[in-house]
Amino acid sequence: MYKNFKKNSKKLQQYAANLIPGTSQLFGKKPELYLPGGKWPTYYSKAKGINVWGIDNKKYSDFTMVGIGTSVLGYSDPDINKVAIDAIKRSSMNTLNPPEDVELAELLIKLHPWAENVRYCRTGGESMSVAIRLARAYNNRDKILFCGYHGWHDWYLSANLKSKKSLNPHLLPGLEPIGVPKSLKGSVIPFRFNNFEDLEKIIKKKAKYCAAIVMEPCREKLPSKDYLIELKKIATKNNTLLIFDEITSGWRVDTCGIHMNLGIYPDMAVFGKTIANGIAMGAIIGKKKIMKNATKTFLSSAFWTERIGPSCAVEFIKKHKRLNLGQKLVKKGKQIKEIWKDSAKNANLDIEINGIDPLASFKLNIPDWNFGITYFIQEMLKKKILASDRCYSNYKHSDKSLKKYKEACNEIFSKISFLQKSRKLKNSLEGPVKQMGFKRLTN
Ligand SMILES: Cc1ncc(COP(=O)(O)O)c(C=O)c1O
Repeated sequence: MYKNFKKNSKKLQQYAANLIPGTSQLFGKKPELYLPGGKWPTYYSKAKGINVWGIDNKKYSDFTMVGIGTSVLGYSDPDINKVAIDAIKRSSMNTLNPPEDVELAELLIKLHPWAENVRYCRTGGESMSVAIRLARAYNNRDKILFCGYHGWHDWYLSANLKSKKSLNPHLLPGLEPIGVPKSLKGSVIPFRFNNFEDLEKIIKKKAKYCAAIVMEPCREKLPSKDYLIELKKIATKNNTLLIFDEITSGWRVDTCGIHMNLGIYPDMAVFGKTIANGIAMGAIIGKKKIMKNATKTFLSSAFWTERIGPSCAVEFIKKHKRLNLGQKLVKKGKQIKEIWKDSAKNANLDIEINGIDPLASFKLNIPDWNFGITYFIQEMLKKKILASDRCYSNYKHSDKSLKKYKEACNEIFSKISFLQKSRKLKNSLEGPVKQMGFKRLTN
């Protein structure tokens, strides 16, 4: 019974496994991706800044992605909360529409002057599905060229109907497209990120049959400017739309999508995740000639009209700008990378550090990295730190918390080095080895 387990994470997790297939609604929150066996806290009771309290009231500092990358201002930001509570008090849902939809549209277009129109959803994946529908409606073509991760919907997962390996470099190896209509086979065509060979052999050849070229403008690294210029040229020549998925890359280095810093303007861009600092919100921005198809095809959902999402997105964007948050996230991201680099050097370990500064990740080059990262998470947890091989910098990663993280990294990397050399790493695990998760590879 829930009430018997509600303060015991391990038991609640076991109970949940029988009630909720997969335990979490998000792949990336499965406890097996951190620490299988029940030690990972799995459920939270409350959170503030980067502090998270488990259901047993133990307090942790979050040095993972902080809410899967949704909450760059920190959890439960007072300004966002105030706006959310106010929206609830004035009725979150209504027969009429929230005027904040209009204020947000104005803001988004001001920040991205190439765009003329805006539509809203509440999650990233559905926002991407809307963008794909609009692209297909615009030029009456079915096929899509894509690179990167864009959500769980049929249009995307259908990539694995043709070959089960299609999504290996974009998301995860071995994804079964079970339940996806087989008739979608061949409707989406993968290409490698920043890869000129695929640009010539795949994109140039297929673009004229495709509704859109869809990509994350930044994966583990930024693409070269030459690559983007060429991609845009091909898209324009073939009347194929260029869509940037900014769900993870947006609002990280500046108060806008990262494409504004790259200086390449797409036909549509999609935002989600952190656009309202942990409040469900998604936005599709684009050129009028494309976006106007939103009234020709059928795009409609009740909760795309609630008030909390757009109100908090407006507040988030204003606060982001006020704080110059992009610069701060870059600075803190650099500090986190330095911590990993120094700790590895002190421990005589070879390290690979990836990602732009606010979206950083690391890998120690040891033969059994899966044991190494499981051990790292296990030992970090003992120090009351939620950790993984990926850390998204956060406004609330204070100097004090970074110092604590640095000391912990130093100590644990040294232990890994010692255990690795003495072949004791596997035996030092107090539970099963973690499942390896999402890949944000460079190709
Ligand atoms: C680039 C990108 N696109 C799409 C999605 C899907 O967003 P959501 O999980 O909100 O559906 C994600 C989520 O991680 C993402 O990073």
